[in-house]
Amino acid sequence: MPFDIRPIAPADIPAIAALARATWEVAYHGIITPAQIDYMLAQRYSAAQLQADLADAHKWLYQAFMDGERVGYAACEVSEKGEFKLDKLYVHPDMQRRGVGAALVEHAASIAREHGHAAMILYVNKHNAQAIRAYGKYGFTVREKVVTDIGGGFVMDDFLMEKPV
Ligand SMILES: CC(C)(COP(=O)(O)OP(=O)(O)OC[C@H]1O[C@@H](n2cnc3c(N)ncnc32)[C@H](O)[C@@H]1OP(=O)(O)O)[C@@H](O)C(=O)NCCC(=O)NCCS
Repeated sequence: MPFDIRPIAPADIPAIAALARATWEVAYHGIITPAQIDYMLAQRYSAAQLQADLADAHKWLYQAFMDGERVGYAACEVSEKGEFKLDKLYVHPDMQRRGVGAALVEHAASIAREHGHAAMILYVNKHNAQAIRAYGKYGFTVREKVVTDIGGGFVMDDFLMEKPV
């Protein structure tokens, strides 16, 4: 099925936040608590945070459409350490396993190359087997294990994965 990738604009923010919630509630069910899902969605997907992300010259946010329907989105950025990082990658539960994730990752890789990076990193929850399988298929390997305190009494228990681009 054909799909296309477009940048996210301010007018898309409510739809991206809604797609995030629809995807997170399925993807993280049984991995993190509903309270942590709410906490992290509020941190990352508030209108103010997404506006700030869109205004940041070191961040790229884009979305995938299939038959005119928004089916996924991704965001990448240059980290504080100067590494190119895939920060968000989400495909609606009903639209997974059709190559959208692969296309969004390839788009990130092309942005990384354009900006002179030789590799791309990401953090993925250690228990998110579906995403870890997908990342393995895309050529990522585990570099290290990282536990990050995100406030509110919550932590992220992640693998840091890396792939050459
Ligand atoms: C991870 C994710 C972005 C991959 O996107 P996608 O469009 O489904 O991926 P692709 O179509 O490119 O498929 C890549 C691989 O993902 C895995 N995968 C995707 N959906 C799956 C599912 N429902 N069940 C099992 N494996 C699945 C498979 O290994 C698949 O390869 P295969 O079909 O050859 O076996 C998507 O599954 C997703 O949004 N998951 C929930 C959110 C999430 O965990 N995001 C990552 C946060 S770090």
